[in-house]
Amino acid sequence: MGKALDGVRILDFTHVQSGPTCTQLLAWFGADVIKVERPGVGDATRGQLRDIPDVDSLYFTMLNHNKRSLTLNSKNETGKQLLTRLIEECDVMVENFAPGAIDRMGFPWEKIQEINPRMIYASVKGFGPGPYADCKVYENVAQCAGGSASTTGMLGEVPMVTGAQIGDSGTGLHLAFGIVTALYHREQSGRGQRVTCAMQDGVLNLCRVKLRDQQRLGHGPLKEYSQFGEGIPFGEATPRAGNDSGGGQPGRILKCKGWETDPDAYTYFITQAAVWKNICDVIGKPEWKEDPEYATPDARLPHLNEVFGAIEDWTMTKSKFEVMEICNPLNIPVGPILSMKEIAEEPSLRETGTIVEVDHPERGKYLSVGNPVKLSDSPSDVVRSPLLGEHTDEVLRDVLGLSDDEIAKAREEGAV
Ligand code: COA
Repeated sequence: MGKALDGVRILDFTHVQSGPTCTQLLAWFGADVIKVERPGVGDATRGQLRDIPDVDSLYFTMLNHNKRSLTLNSKNETGKQLLTRLIEECDVMVENFAPGAIDRMGFPWEKIQEINPRMIYASVKGFGPGPYADCKVYENVAQCAGGSASTTGMLGEVPMVTGAQIGDSGTGLHLAFGIVTALYHREQSGRGQRVTCAMQDGVLNLCRVKLRDQQRLGHGPLKEYSQFGEGIPFGEATPRAGNDSGGGQPGRILKCKGWETDPDAYTYFITQAAVWKNICDVIGKPEWKEDPEYATPDARLPHLNEVFGAIEDWTMTKSKFEVMEICNPLNIPVGPILSMKEIAEEPSLRETGTIVEVDHPERGKYLSVGNPVKLSDSPSDVVRSPLLGEHTDEVLRDVLGLSDDEIAKAREEGAV
């Protein structure tokens, strides 16, 4: 069975995290992703956060599976000619350089379109057009500018960034969606187009419920927020809501057995209205089922601290997995706080290919996250990341049809 994106060739000028996340996804689905890197230098992440001296870091290897690596100096004259030929041969070009870098190389969108009108040219930038368009941006800048940090953390404490890389990997996901959409459109139009995604916009898209709450604030307090029950007045902007659920069903993180010594002995517990009676039974508060102070979701809102306090008295007598085993059959939505160690060791994630063990010629075996999107007719396998320039000759020969002599000449001229 072929892969879903077999036959799609991608010129991958991405580096660090946001762009590589995007092209890795496309590579998993079968696209031929040719990662272009500066000769002798490569993607900076190859050398960042190294755990083994002189070996590509996990930062790099875990974001660049299933790709080929071509070294090419795009500021060298011969390099520019090769790049022009590659633009002719590829379907998609992806980059996440700082604003203006591609133009300074001499390949603005207008020129790319001229070389190959079917080319889909996709970019990640920190900000869209506007006052910050020229700024360089990393993950946490995007989390802050996209509304995530101001709405994350505990009330009254500093804004908080989240471990989920919503600015980088989140924007990479958005960009991959844009590229596949443009490929579909090209089927009808015969033309490529420009796809852009700003990290600020990507983060904001993921934070849309907080903009929802910003507007609800104009019509009164946000009653499902814990601070409402605690009598703390709301200000002008959506506040930080700790571990409140963010949806219409109140939820919190609660201690479980062993929390005193195990930093991850916690569960998320959602008091879904539909199963309130089951919750009352399981925590030993059957009287709350009919008590008008507790029986309905609206009545409970001012008492959430008391309600969750009673639930926590119960969860503290159970491990986080026992809470799950007891609550699931009763349809009560709960979730254990899993550490990365527990996730790495979880057999079911290995079975589905969500966690995979990969073998690398220089670092040996390591764990990675496989494709989280499963297609029934186009399964993904995870192929180790390429060494710097591992496929330079192969790409120049097979994609551009260069002879061995021509490749040697390009190398002498410092183009590859
Ligand atoms: N051949 C020749 N030159 C190359 C090259 C190649 N193959 N690949 C890169 N370069 C050059 C670029 O042309 C640029 O040169 P210039 O500034 O002289 O024009 C230079 O390398 C550095 O590129 P840049 O993107 O500015 O890297 P940086 O390390 O200074 O900045 C970021 C890194 C991530 C901050 C920046 O790329 C950025 O803001 N990107 C957009 C937002 C983004 O994706 N951020 C998240 C990253 S996870």
